[in-house]
Amino acid sequence: MDMGLNNKTALITGSTKGIGKAIAFELAKEGVNVLINGRNYDKVEQTVNEIKSKFPATSPQNATADIVDKEQREALFEKYPNIDILVNNMGIYEIMSYEDVDDEIFEQYFRTNVLAANGLAKFYLPKMLKNNYGRVIFIASEEAIMPSAQMPQYAMTKSMLLSLSKSLSKLTIGTEVTVNTIMPGPTLSENVHQIIDGMYPEEVLTFSEKEKKFMTTNLPQSEIQRFIKPYEIGRLAAFVCSPYASAFKGSPTVWMGEWYPLFSKY
Ligand SMILES: NC(=O)c1ccc[n+]([C@@H]2O[C@H](COP(=O)([O-])OP(=O)(O)OC[C@H]3O[C@@H](n4cnc5c(N)ncnc54)[C@H](OP(=O)(O)O)[C@@H]3O)[C@@H](O)[C@H]2O)c1
Repeated sequence: MDMGLNNKTALITGSTKGIGKAIAFELAKEGVNVLINGRNYDKVEQTVNEIKSKFPATSPQNATADIVDKEQREALFEKYPNIDILVNNMGIYEIMSYEDVDDEIFEQYFRTNVLAANGLAKFYLPKMLKNNYGRVIFIASEEAIMPSAQMPQYAMTKSMLLSLSKSLSKLTIGTEVTVNTIMPGPTLSENVHQIIDGMYPEEVLTFSEKEKKFMTTNLPQSEIQRFIKPYEIGRLAAFVCSPYASAFKGSPTVWMGEWYPLFSKY
């Protein structure tokens, strides 16, 4: 399906690996010129080159910046003042027990997962409104609405993104700009792959046996009984960015294979 995105420009934060990279690939597949972001210039350049060789008709660019750092964000704005699509994907996560989460950790998660994304939206959204076209997507998590209690510091920030996204969506009323949130369930990014691979050291199991065991033990409610593949989120994000999705505004998409109210109003 041609998503009608040819020649648009998209900034995808945290796109040198995992979900962000998959979103960048799926957008490039649709002819989008993607701005690849991460903190390490060489890793960003490597991803840019991978995309350039796979989708030579597009012009991927290096958008290296630590987006938690206000000055680096501002340098990024100077370099790329205009974009059509902002995918606020970058986020940190770690399993922690509530008793270990002190104020400093809450603040670190707030700065990283919320303020960085908000800083980008604050700069680009008014320009999108002025152009009467644009897409902002926040990558939250199912933890936003179903905290597991395994990472309270993270779940709180993802709920905040949901709320922020909804507030920003209200600013787009009557325009061709949309703001939406995707809330993935457990997804097989490189990090998660490594974590699962390191589990059950006492048993000789293949990766897919470990995945199955993890699912039946930890997520018996999952209907897909596997991790989501990053490209599946990438495809969904490409659709949300497309003109075909212009009626979806302020919608959270929960995606965990357990329940799937695609674009239902929350
Ligand atoms: N994986 C899951 O199961 C899952 C489920 C639900 C939601 N999510 C959400 O999906 C998003 C992506 O997760 P993921 O698992 O794909 O992450 P990941 O594999 O850890 O990738 C993180 C990306 O962000 C970059 N990054 C980290 N800190 C940065 C910063 N300060 N400035 C710019 N770039 C930075 C990393 O590159 P450098 O380190 O080189 O900077 C990398 O490209 C997150 O928001 C996460 O909360 C993930």
